[in-house]
Amino acid sequence: MFRFKTLVFVLIVASLALAACAPTAPAATEPPAAPAATVPPAAPTVAPPAAPAAGLACSPNCEYSDLVVGFLQTGSEGGWRAANTASFKETADQLGLKLKFYDSQNDLANQVAGFHQFIQDPEVNVIILAALETTGWDDVLKEAAAAGKVVVLEDRRIDAAEDLYVTYIGSDFAEEGRKGGTEMCTLLEGMASKNVWELVGNVGSSAAKDRGQGFRETMTACGITITNSQTGNWSATEGKAVTEAWLKESTDVQGIFAQNDEMGLGAIEALKEAGLKPGVDVQVITFDATAGAFKSMLAGELNVAVECNPLLAPQVYEAALKAANGEELPKWVPSQEGVFRASDANLQSIADGRKY
Ligand code: AHR
Repeated sequence: MFRFKTLVFVLIVASLALAACAPTAPAATEPPAAPAATVPPAAPTVAPPAAPAAGLACSPNCEYSDLVVGFLQTGSEGGWRAANTASFKETADQLGLKLKFYDSQNDLANQVAGFHQFIQDPEVNVIILAALETTGWDDVLKEAAAAGKVVVLEDRRIDAAEDLYVTYIGSDFAEEGRKGGTEMCTLLEGMASKNVWELVGNVGSSAAKDRGQGFRETMTACGITITNSQTGNWSATEGKAVTEAWLKESTDVQGIFAQNDEMGLGAIEALKEAGLKPGVDVQVITFDATAGAFKSMLAGELNVAVECNPLLAPQVYEAALKAANGEELPKWVPSQEGVFRASDANLQSIADGRKY
């Protein structure tokens, strides 16, 4: 026990002696020296790039011929989509940029797979997305940002952080819906019963969600009730079949709110086969205002077509080029759109001048 105490005592004296010999910390005025360089740098967090021009070597002097665009189209579900696709293919030729076109065949899994494909394609430096649905894009967008791809949304908005894409160029679908509700109020003015049937676009898409919400905002002003609502997946065949099934149940309908022209034209065929006069016995409103809608309005079977502009390619490519050169862009560039009515005096001349 005695020996142990002596040992401890000796050790304390020794360490005190050593501390007295070590170099002292610099005076309080100087910040402590940086730690030795051996500390490994912190793992970088993958923050979305401020200007998405990281991947383009030509930036800030890129030209259209430097762009290789991967375009993720929804599919080919009707006249509007055909005009939208043509706008992108024709404008790419005119501008001299290389376009890789991906038809998602209206299948979300396909579209996400196509997105990954374009991220892994070293040639592609711009990705354009017409999103089938609003959700599920954050991860693939973060991958695209990390790969330095410029991402532009066209036609359809998505629910993702805005710094994950350059800009969205497309319609205010909620405003289109509000216009539709207001037009239906005018058409049903003075009617005792205001039952409306809704033909919905593909479930989950911004076009379908927002048009439905917008229409419900303004329909309340005149006491409209939506008594049937079902998807027709943007197609004339499904729009007709759904309307036929409803007509078997009841003919107590005063208005049809079809979220695009094709579904509305299908519903018109069903009404006629049920012995009703579309545009007279039942008021019909559609969205897009393609050539088929003008033909139906001129025939007096369709009452109103709320326009949705498909000719977006020039604006979208211009935005992609600006972003490639490091320019910051507004997060949304809404399309300019109108409303056309069967009662418009100059409807024929308008129809003659239309591109789609
Ligand atoms: O996103 C726009 C919509 O998509 C159009 O209204 C419809 O026709 C198309 O399928």
